[in-house]
Amino acid sequence: MLELKHISYVVNDAGVEQTILNDVSVTIPDGKLIVFTGPNGGGKTTLAKIIMGLVTPTQGQILLNGQDVTALSITERARLGISYGFQQPPRFKGITVRDLLTIASGDDKLTKDKCCHYLTQVGLCANDYLDREVDVSLSGGEVKRIEIATLLARGSAFMIFDEPEAGIDLWSFARLTETFESIHRTHSATMIIISHQERIISLADEVIVVGGGVLQYRGTADEILPKIMQDTTHGCPVLTRKEAATL
Ligand SMILES: Nc1ncnc2c1ncn2[C@@H]1O[C@H](COP(=O)(O)OP(=O)(O)OP(=O)(O)O)[C@@H](O)[C@H]1O
Ligand SMILES: [Mg+2]
Repeated sequence: MLELKHISYVVNDAGVEQTILNDVSVTIPDGKLIVFTGPNGGGKTTLAKIIMGLVTPTQGQILLNGQDVTALSITERARLGISYGFQQPPRFKGITVRDLLTIASGDDKLTKDKCCHYLTQVGLCANDYLDREVDVSLSGGEVKRIEIATLLARGSAFMIFDEPEAGIDLWSFARLTETFESIHRTHSATMIIISHQERIISLADEVIVVGGGVLQYRGTADEILPKIMQDTTHGCPVLTRKEAATL
């Protein structure tokens, strides 16, 4: 179980304090699939990075299975079973897909069959990709899918995927969704998926809308999706004021 307690993140931007996250508390039970969704700039990635230890909160506490991990490094949290797939994954010149999968799995003798198994789950063929370098020669969607495959190879107990759908074609997306469903069905990991995709939102045990640095709504997909649709029908407040002024 992961517990976030009163997490705040305030940055000082050229002398001006900006609150990115404001007193966020949430508990993620084991084996659940939780989707974070919400408007661009709402704070989802920051929250994910705080869980992984890439960003240090200015206030609050993070507990993993009762252990306070707030002060632990990324490596220490990875050892405790947390993994994070970046919204925009890094590229590694000189490192092949096979190298990455081998490092992620922790198995020096990772077989081609196993690599194939992980790559197939994201719709890639091992024959085409195993010896490719994870450099600029790969497309955005390919890098994204390879990163997700490394998370699957790592097999962490707690996986965070940041917009796994971004840049991924419809066929690979369908395959990936099946993978998430299978992990969820077998309770083999707890997952936070940050997503704007209705198909992924509909898989969730709970959907949490993060906006303006706070948790705005929580509920099942059936409860939350109509709220999101309702919110998109609101006008721009600036335009609305201008329109009102010209009346
Ligand atoms: N170090 C920082 N300095 C200034 N602003 C920051 C910093 N980190 C994050 N922000 C701002 O905080 C807000 C939340 O960013 P975040 O990346 O968490 O949003 P998000 O919900 O993941 O959005 P998206 O859906 O676009 O990925 C954004 O407005 C971003 O510009
Ligand atoms: Mg983001």
